[in-house]
Amino acid sequence: MDFKDYIRVIPDFPQPGISFKDITTLLNDGAKYREAIEEMRKMIADLKIDLIAGPEARGFVVGAPLAYALGVGFVPIRKQGKLPFDTIEVSYDLEYGTDVLAMHRDAVKPGQNVLIADDLLATGGTIATCVDLIRQVGGNVVGAAFMIELQDLNGRAKLPDVEVFTLTQYPF
Ligand code: PRP
Ligand code: MG
Repeated sequence: MDFKDYIRVIPDFPQPGISFKDITTLLNDGAKYREAIEEMRKMIADLKIDLIAGPEARGFVVGAPLAYALGVGFVPIRKQGKLPFDTIEVSYDLEYGTDVLAMHRDAVKPGQNVLIADDLLATGGTIATCVDLIRQVGGNVVGAAFMIELQDLNGRAKLPDVEVFTLTQYPF
């Protein structure tokens, strides 16, 4: 199927010039949501994965079902101040604004193979930060998988040594 048929595009949200790709319409359809996760699972089927890491909030909606489907653990990467135990933190620039991402220091053990999952690859800042966090604790990033890639923003350039998988791409 063409996943674009289930993604709602909202012009000028959250600010003028941003064309927001809204996956809530895909999530709202149980069969299509499952199909999207299943297609992602197939894309990464050849990888050896110990853990999936996903950045709050939309990365949870993609990463957790993917982890469940693979039978591997899930590592939440969260915005600052949300995780209760010993964390490492990295600040990053977003498509719109700046933020800090944090991960529990013991969530990934040295040598573990981690796939990062999120809804959308835009500038790549979010995922480059996730890569940084995972590598800081000795994890091995085996790839990054997304439902959507905004090709014009060239997020892959920020992930030169990461294998990138995307279900659907814009503008084409
Ligand atoms: C959005 C999206 C990706 C990120 C992509 O998250 O879910 O995580 O932006 O942009 P980038 O490639 O330019 O970093 P956002 O920070 O808006 O938060 P949310 O997932 O909590 O909605
Ligand atoms: Mg996000």
